[in-house]
Amino acid sequence: MRQPESVSADAPCKINRELRVGRLRPDGYHELRSRMVTIDVADTLRAEECDVLELSCDDPSLPSGPENLVLRAAARLADAAGARLGAKIHLEKRVPAGGGLGGGSSDAACTLRLLAALWKLSVSDDDLARLAAGLGSDVPFFLRGGEAEVSGRGDRVAALPDGPRAALLLLVPPFPVSTAAVYREFAGRGTLPERLALDDPDRAKYLGPNDLAPAVLAMEPRMGTYVHSAAAAASDWVISGSGATIVLSGAPDGTLEALRLRHPDARVIPCRSLSRAEYLERTRPTGGTP
Ligand code: C5P
Repeated sequence: MRQPESVSADAPCKINRELRVGRLRPDGYHELRSRMVTIDVADTLRAEECDVLELSCDDPSLPSGPENLVLRAAARLADAAGARLGAKIHLEKRVPAGGGLGGGSSDAACTLRLLAALWKLSVSDDDLARLAAGLGSDVPFFLRGGEAEVSGRGDRVAALPDGPRAALLLLVPPFPVSTAAVYREFAGRGTLPERLALDDPDRAKYLGPNDLAPAVLAMEPRMGTYVHSAAAAASDWVISGSGATIVLSGAPDGTLEALRLRHPDARVIPCRSLSRAEYLERTRPTGGTP
């Protein structure tokens, strides 16, 4: 009997090196400008032929029903192809959920690529970009990864040349932060920058300001102790996106162990930035008959 075909790929996540946030738009999203870069912390997705669409996940705390972005991406792609297509998808989760690292968005972009390969669809880049933008603000960025300046509500992506290869530490507090709630808190504070511009890319620090940081700290007071530890360990640190993850650059030797001792409830993850070529290589669907 013929074995079902299967394909797999990694879905690396991102950090926001810098995030500037502006006005609330009529569509309910905020205008933003951010410098994002992919990093080598990744989920893995595997998909095999099946009559129906179904998802399993090694992390039981994540929803595996139709609200999961992976299944929404799969359903949208099948709709766009105009066919009743199925797949059994398995998600191996390593990226902390609700951490401001875009893990769910990367999984969604990965699903589009993976199922286009499994179903042997020829989808144009424009169609992929449209599907991605309909799934979430960060999803279009994950079609190509690497380093990029994103704007609009996050859906306009301008690729940048690869930045320096950066060794980073992620300090991930043991609670998720809701992106929607952080943006609501930001809107209520009424502090808007005059101009949505990124810092000079040649500045000495790898990480820049995050306009959402005061809203994250106000909404989640438990963040304070983790931010305090990050600031004590390195002068170059930032909260990624809407939190809760804190990114440290240039931290001295021993910082990883010290943070793990001080915050046994947190995850401390050493990682590095991924160039566009590395990202595209890791996310290319591979496989065939198991
Ligand atoms: O697009 P995504 O589903 O990731 O966004 C989650 C929520 O975050 C949105 O529903 C919106 O409330 C908020 N958001 C925003 N402005 C953005 C991106 C997200 O207000 N640019």
